[in-house]
Amino acid sequence: MRDPLKHLQWERGALWLLDQRALPGRIVWIRARDAETVAGAIETLAVRGAPAIGIAAAYGVALAAREHGATSRTVGAAIRRLARTRPTGYNLFNALAQMEAAVASAHDLKSATLDAALRIHANDELDCDLMAAAGVTLFKRREGVLTYCNTGALATGGIGTALGVIKTAFAAKRITEVFACETRPVGQGARLTIWECVRAGVPVTLICDNMAASLMTGGKVDRVLVGADRIARNGDTSNKIGTLSLAMLARAYKIPFHVVAPTSTFDASLATGKQIKIEERAAEEITRATRGLERVRGYRVWNPAFDVTPGRLVTSFVTEQGIVRPPFTGRSLFNATAGSN
Ligand code: MRU
Repeated sequence: MRDPLKHLQWERGALWLLDQRALPGRIVWIRARDAETVAGAIETLAVRGAPAIGIAAAYGVALAAREHGATSRTVGAAIRRLARTRPTGYNLFNALAQMEAAVASAHDLKSATLDAALRIHANDELDCDLMAAAGVTLFKRREGVLTYCNTGALATGGIGTALGVIKTAFAAKRITEVFACETRPVGQGARLTIWECVRAGVPVTLICDNMAASLMTGGKVDRVLVGADRIARNGDTSNKIGTLSLAMLARAYKIPFHVVAPTSTFDASLATGKQIKIEERAAEEITRATRGLERVRGYRVWNPAFDVTPGRLVTSFVTEQGIVRPPFTGRSLFNATAGSN
């Protein structure tokens, strides 16, 4: 039996991917033998979460290098295909840049690309542990924590970003309860975070996304922890759509709001979050929840997958290199995080 929390497994020339669309009801594995299968899995959210997307794409390149007659040109085409899957998360482009470099200097394409993919995976696992060790120091007493989307093992190559900190802080008896937002429209919170918390024995309460303000009014939330898909030099942070509302609420209720992300998510080329391309996804992701809506005509649907939280609403960033506090400037944020992208 495969461990579903190790949801990306390289085995004898193939990548085994846990199909996250089937969770929490069923454990379904996809055996990818080529880059196209990996690209499809990323596009359809079978694998998702910024670091996990980067890792899967890196293995996709390693698969392309194993194809019969593979050359640096055919592997380059696979890299370009994988780069077109999802535009917002930076880890994908960071990982593909590393794979491109591995291809450029390879004597043996097959082993060079596999080594690079395994290294990207192992680095992310380590980053998760280091973020958890840094993040746990935020908690001064037993607290109630609110989180969003899924930022756990399923979103990374290790124990997770925000959810990795949460699991570690719970084990250290610094958390009383976790509140997980459902995360409409795709339900990463309800489907994946609930599943992960229950498996880890972390007490978790599911709420709809529009219940966060009421929860905060009631004094149940001491801290908000979220992940990130891409972070600009001024600390502007793109993350799952709905994160911005939580950051604004947290500011209104004077609740600390932390972004937990490895430096592989920091994009030094962007001055502000205005430059982040926000993915828009199919209308059906929203409409399928309302029975009968498919028969109604004459309306439009807007389905952005991410939003951008201004850096001024972020209390601190938790990275594998430690905690970064404001003011967030290119220098403060990127000096602290330099060198590991
Ligand atoms: O659309 P998804 O499920 O890929 O979005 C995931 C998120 O927004 C996560 O919060 C982010 O990638 C950080 S995961 C460690």
